[in-house]
Amino acid sequence: MFITFEGGEGTGKTTLIKDVAEALRQDYSREPGGSRIAEAIRDIILNPIYQGVTPFTEALLLAAARAQHLDEVILPALASNQIVLCDRYLDSSLAYQAYARDLGFEFVLNINDYAVRNMPDLTFYIDLDPIVGISRIANRSKYDRLDQETVEFHQKVREGYLKIAKMYPDRIVTIDGSLSIEEIKRQIISKIRESL
Ligand code: TYD
Repeated sequence: MFITFEGGEGTGKTTLIKDVAEALRQDYSREPGGSRIAEAIRDIILNPIYQGVTPFTEALLLAAARAQHLDEVILPALASNQIVLCDRYLDSSLAYQAYARDLGFEFVLNINDYAVRNMPDLTFYIDLDPIVGISRIANRSKYDRLDQETVEFHQKVREGYLKIAKMYPDRIVTIDGSLSIEEIKRQIISKIRESL
């Protein structure tokens, strides 16, 4: 079973996935990254020293990192019958690149054809007002290149996610990100147990 976690900045996704993985006694991975080569690509995508990365290049690098992560980590783990938990996947590219960066769903789906052929069974989208999310990460010492985007950009990401959740209602479960982390965790674990 392949399960992904999606959401904007400051939704607590990373803490959540750690706790869920522990409860299920499984490992977890993340995108962009998750393998040595994909993490190297991640640095080009997110390091603020690379301000000149264009939207097309960004989308292509994300697709490249994803292809590498699929071959090195996700597909072998699924083949050995593990539950694969991943912090972000193709829906991030749909919300951020296709929708917020205006590259369009068709282009992003095309360059991610390999991921399209390996879609998650279940996706949790943690929905939160970006103003709340950004205020939660305000005391972080490090901001990546995408954290530095405007509030309008993050509002658009949220709009994108809400559209995607409507496009794939059987796969995507929307969770209210303003609930306590304990309650969100409880909802996620109960949904996973129900689907297993
Ligand atoms: P992440 O490490 O999850 O950071 P955060 O804690 O800020 O959520 O994700 C890194 C950034 O990469 C995040 O701003 C979203 C962005 N991203 C995309 O724009 N498209 C993608 O396909 C992926 C996987 C991530």
